[in-house]
Amino acid sequence: MMRLGVLISGRGSNLQALIEACAEPGFPAEIALVVSNRGEAPGLARATAAKLARTVIPLGDRREFAAAADAALRGAGVDLVCLAGFMRILDVDFVEAWRDRMVNIHPSLLPAFRGLHAQRQALAAGVRFAGCTVHFVRSEIDTGPIIAQGVVPVRPDDDEDTLSARILAVEHRLYPLAVRLIAEGRVRVVGNRTVVEGWQPADFACLGPSPDFLVTTPL
Ligand code: GAR
Repeated sequence: MMRLGVLISGRGSNLQALIEACAEPGFPAEIALVVSNRGEAPGLARATAAKLARTVIPLGDRREFAAAADAALRGAGVDLVCLAGFMRILDVDFVEAWRDRMVNIHPSLLPAFRGLHAQRQALAAGVRFAGCTVHFVRSEIDTGPIIAQGVVPVRPDDDEDTLSARILAVEHRLYPLAVRLIAEGRVRVVGNRTVVEGWQPADFACLGPSPDFLVTTPL
């Protein structure tokens, strides 16, 4: 079983998706620790309800947070760190220490629309497809080898809320999928890309581009 450490700052709906995935028989990972930088993060209640170990590390100085988070994650025997709506920039040394063992989910088809308000950026750019990306974390924000992407259409009458909701539904499917692939040992980092062994786009409707066309499913 791969042991996950999940870092949150807020709502925690992606944490919830990981909790539910880990509860499924045969899922190859378990959540060892939930870390929040905010004591009032609603996501903490999800950790409590699932009887998970949780800790709050108030983010003061970036290096102090990194040292405390690193100690907590190592103490819990974490193999893979999952950023799930963790909205603070991490210390460079912390990112390096967890290189290829830390993943993030971002609500855009990276490398487009990095940073805050990705869905708003997508609407402003007038793109016809949006989505989400799970990637290994590098020190520059929202960069790093891509593991999986989910695609949704942008509708003419979308606003930030409707588009965000459509993307979020895919996030909740994509994150567990990416974690499963990693936990099964199928993801290899090659330069700034990943190679996923046995990747079958057709197995995952709306969860990746097929060789010939873009697969999307209205959600
Ligand atoms: C999600 O949409 C996630 O992709 C985004 O924050 C939201 C957290 O929601 N993350 C980023 O923008 C990171 N750059 P959640 O707390 O309900 O999982």
